[in-house]
Formats: sequence, C-alpha cells, structure tokens
Amino acid sequence: MPTIESILKETRIFSPAKEFSSKANIPSFEAYQALCAEAEDDNLSFWAKRAQEQIAWHKPFTQVLNDRMAPFFQWFSDGELNVSYNCLDRHLETQADKVAIIFESDDGEIIRSTYHDLHQRVCKLANALKSQNINKGDRVVIYMPMRIEAVVAMQACARIGAIHSVVFGGFSAKSLHERIQDAGAVAVITADEQVRGGKRNPLKLIVDEALSKADTAFVRLVVVYQRTGADIRFDPARDVWWHEFTENAGLQCEPEWVGAEHPLFTLYTSGSTGKPKGVQHSSAGYLLGTKESMQWIFDYKPADVFWCTADVGWITGHSYVAYGPLAMGATQVIFEGIPTYPNAGRFWEIIQKHKVTTFYTAPTAIRSLIKLGADLPEQYELSSLRLLGSVGEPINPEAWMWFYEKVGRSRCPIVDTWWQTETGSHMIAPAPGAIALKPGSCTFPLPGISAAIVDEAGHDVENGKGGFLVIKKPFPSQIRTLWGDSERFKEAYFSKDIGCGKYYVSGDSAYRDIEGYFWIMGRTDDVLNVSGHRLGTMEIESALVAHPSVAEAAVVGKPHEIKGEAVIAFVVLKGQYPHAEEITQITHTLREWVAKEIGPIAKPDEIRFGENLPKTRSGKIMRRLLRSLAKGEEITQDVSTLENPAILEQLKYPEK
Ligand code: PRX
Repeated sequence: MPTIESILKETRIFSPAKEFSSKANIPSFEAYQALCAEAEDDNLSFWAKRAQEQIAWHKPFTQVLNDRMAPFFQWFSDGELNVSYNCLDRHLETQADKVAIIFESDDGEIIRSTYHDLHQRVCKLANALKSQNINKGDRVVIYMPMRIEAVVAMQACARIGAIHSVVFGGFSAKSLHERIQDAGAVAVITADEQVRGGKRNPLKLIVDEALSKADTAFVRLVVVYQRTGADIRFDPARDVWWHEFTENAGLQCEPEWVGAEHPLFTLYTSGSTGKPKGVQHSSAGYLLGTKESMQWIFDYKPADVFWCTADVGWITGHSYVAYGPLAMGATQVIFEGIPTYPNAGRFWEIIQKHKVTTFYTAPTAIRSLIKLGADLPEQYELSSLRLLGSVGEPINPEAWMWFYEKVGRSRCPIVDTWWQTETGSHMIAPAPGAIALKPGSCTFPLPGISAAIVDEAGHDVENGKGGFLVIKKPFPSQIRTLWGDSERFKEAYFSKDIGCGKYYVSGDSAYRDIEGYFWIMGRTDDVLNVSGHRLGTMEIESALVAHPSVAEAAVVGKPHEIKGEAVIAFVVLKGQYPHAEEITQITHTLREWVAKEIGPIAKPDEIRFGENLPKTRSGKIMRRLLRSLAKGEEITQDVSTLENPAILEQLKYPEK
C-alpha cells in the first residue's frame, strides 16, 4: 500500500472549543459514542427512528430494510414521499419568507430567493414539463450554469418524479452525448451560455452538437434558460425558451408521490474501466443521509448562512446545494463564478458580504488561493464564520493549517468529510462539537456507518496498517445500482475479491492511527483525483487512442501542488517517433483533442512519447513503472519481467 508523506508525523490535535461544543448538535465525544452505540445495538431501529423524524412521509413505511436481494438493498420501501415537497412545501407554513438562496453571479449581481419564491419557480417549471408529457420515471439531463435555475430544474424533476441526470457544464459534447444516450433522456435543460471568470461557454451549442446524431432522437424537448442573450441556433420543433415555456404555467403543482426507492437521480462518475457509470440514488434513503449529515457534521442551525462552493454537476452540489440545505430550510449562498475572478479575494469577499457561517470547499481551491494570496483573508471581515469544511481529496496538513488559522482565525473547526458519489452523503467526518481534529484526517465514521479497513480476505487490519476502505453494513443513502448495468454495479462495489462480496468496497485505501482516526491514502483503482474530480485513466486513454495519429496510450497521475494530481500521458504514435520540432505541435493537438473528447479538466498536463510502452511479457502495461517515471523517481522495482526494458530510458524525461 502506498503511504502519504508527512501524515504519519502529524501529531497536532485540536479539541473542540467549549463555546462551540456547548451549542453543538452532538455536544461531546460521549454523545457521539452514544449515537454510535445506539446504531450498533439495533441498526434498523436507529435508521427507522431517524427516517420517521426527518422525512415528511405521504404514506409511512412499515419495512425498514429489505436485504433479500442484497446488494440491491431497499430502505423504507413501502413508504411514499416527494423530495421536493420535503425541501420546499414543508417550510411554507413556518418560514415562507426566509431566504433560501442568496445568489451571486459571476459579475457580482445578487438575487435573493425565498422559500415562497423558490416553490413558485419550481412549480412553474414542473407544470410546464408535465404539459409536455414529461412524467414520473422519465429521464431529464440538466446541463446548466451554477445558478438558481439549476436548482429549480433539479427540484422540478423531483417534484414530478422525473429522474434527473446533471452533467457538469465543463464536459464536452461527446461526454454529454454519451450521458444523454446512456440515460435515454427525453429532455435536456440548458442555457444559451455559461459565464465563469468572465469567460463564456456556449452550452446550447454543445447541446446541439451532442444531439446531432440520430441515436439521441428520443430527446424531444430542450429548455433553454437565457443567461447572456447570445445568438443561438433554435430548432422550433424541439427547443423552447425557459421564460416562455414557464410564462403561463400554474404556481401550484401537486407533488408526485413516489415510493421511497424511486430513483431521485443518476449521476455519472468515472470508474477504472469502460464508460462512465450512472450512479443511481433513491429518494428517501438519499434524503435522510443528506439531512443527518447537515445536522451532525455541518452542525446546522436555523440562523446559519451555508455556503458549499461545489457545482451542481458533482455529487457535492447535489447533496449540499440542491437537496441537504433546502431540506433543512437553510439559507445558502450559490455562486456562479470562480474563486479567482476578478481577483483572488472573491471567496473572502462573498463570505464577508453575505455573513457566511459555514463554508465548505475543496482542498484544490484552498491550495490555489494560498498560492495567489496567502495573506488575503486577513484583509476581510470573516467573523461570521463558525465552521469550515473540506471535501474531494485528502487535505494536506499545511493547507489545513492555513485554512484553520487564516480563514477560521483558529476559532472554527474544520470538518474534513470523506464520502463519494456512490455514498450520497458524508461517511467519515468529525462531528465538530464532539471530536478533536487532526489536520489531514477525516477522523471517525458517522453514527450508523460501519466503515472499516480490511485486507483482501475481508479481515480488519490492525491500526497503523493500510488496507481497503469498506463499509460493512448497508446504509440508507448508498448507491442503489448503476443505471442499466446491475452486473457492473455488483462487480464494482461488492467485489468478490475483497471480503467475498459482503461489503461495500469504496475503491480507496486508508489506515487508522493508534487512536482509531481514519486517514485516506488514495484510490486503489486506476482513477485520478484531479482538482477533486474523479477521472478514469481509462477514459483519457480511450480519448487519446481515438486520435488518428495515436497507436497506444497510458495515463497515470503525478502529485501536483495545486490540483492534487496531474494527468501524465505516455503515448506511442503511429508511424515514426516524432522529431523534436514536431513534439510541441502534436502535444498541443492531443491536449486540445482530449479537451474536446472529454472536457478541459481531463487535458494531460504532460505528454511523453515513446516507441512503445513498458509491458510485461503477457502484454500488460506496467503502470507502477509509469507512475514512478512520471514522478521522476529512480526505478528500483524489478524490471526483469519487462518485455522491453530499454524503453524506460526513453520515457524517463518529459520532452522539452
Ligand atoms: O478518493 C476519495 C476522494 O474522492 C473520491 C470520491 O470522488 P467523487 O465520487 O467524485 O466524490 C467527491 C465528493 C464526495 C473518494 O473515493 N475523497 C473525497 N473526499 C475525500 C477524499 N479523499 C480524502 N479525503 C476526503 N475528505
């Protein structure tokens, strides 16, 4: 197992301040332990009680867990609810005029939407969709800028029981096409353009390209939100403007009551092999996970101003923008832009302006902000903050300390939250009033989450030893299946190779220290974590090989100061090994090609060319060696099984 440098030496520990603990939802370590013990004693009663308390049921459930078809678990399955009702209608009687969303656009315009207003917007779009015969179970792809309308689109789908599949606005036409196709979507909701950091991204044009092939003919409606007023192509048979489409739609829309297991959404994520996986989540179990974590980990209080910076295109933006905060009746900030535009003080300015109390972001953003202005936070009034959070990748202790001291002014706990698209909500993270923090550790599992570190046989490993991070018992917010591919679901997450298929296998490696704190070490499969985004090496390789001049490609990760991991590609071209003058040109061409095929986030940072790749005699590419080469390490491993050891020399140095 690889180890993470410096973490073993990390001995700093930060106990919760009395002032914080005394008001916290879980106010002490004993209180945390008591919740864990309750879950341990009777797991089903533990979850049943919480599902009854947290969810407004249209029809109460009688069965808690159905595990007869394991690993296709069902939770609360005979209950009926509507997630949008739980996020909106539920608050109308008590706090209709509370601000639900404080929206700030890329250029600084501010729009406030109350629960009353949000409810009306959602009902209008829901009614308009229904008028076009879009109903329960239909799939709707959402390809939107980070604006109130993105949340409205998701909530409107939930309201009518349509299954949304949000595609991040940075994905290319090809990736969008693949997702629309796989989901069999009947409608796409998009905008004319997206604006981030002053730059425009032509979303509608990309949708047009994605829908240009006959194999997406099942898409019969494209709703276009007018963001910039750019001149776009309009197909009157298929396209409608959002404002015209919803203009005459009713302000009330009876929610579609669905079974607890009805899919709320699918979200595509990278795996180590093949095409992206459509992770399918349920309605009730997912909602419960987001609500419990809002309270236990974000220590939610009604007066909070919550800000999660993630885009709705990722799971974090689903659970902690579109659903969790609204289900709690919170006020939250949604920001359209990027942290560094118009300057590197933008995040701090937003916190100051909107008096943000809870700020949740990614280590990659923290690192880039340190680089661009480590002293900048000091110039802002950040005293409204009471809690900080981190997600997406391990946060290195130095970045943790900076975040803690410069942003939180050594007053605010940091919740380092480990979870995944597939788990739907936090799995391992500190209850901030209860648990002493260690920089770089996500600390302990949430109550009811049986996270463990095991060897291949599924036995717990001793503290201090690395192993596979698994979750032993089913939990409500877990992935239900992969859209259209239940076999792949079983293989990917309940692999017979680890623990004989009994446990949910996360694909991460981790260890626990002497005191039982969890430390995440990284992925065990071929998945890179670039700026907190999971990218399958396999997908980038397929994109490279699809270029007419590429014969073979292998992609690995290399540690990167800001992005966490950089994408390094080893490429064999068809024909001759390129001349020095050709290399710059072909490198540029291939980087742009990958950006077009997958999206700019997947662009290789570096491409090295070789006459071939290091392979075993059985023809398997030795990625371990490529990883060492990428990092510039001396090769100390045994290379005697290599078919072509001489190639290592050629691939050693990046071309100038
Ligand atoms: O490797 C872990 C890393 O991100 C992966 C999940 O990626 P994704 O499904 O895109 O979801 C990201 C947002 C939840 C995990 O398998 N990861 C996520 N959070 C952490 C983390 N690694 C270390 N520490 C974290 N807090």
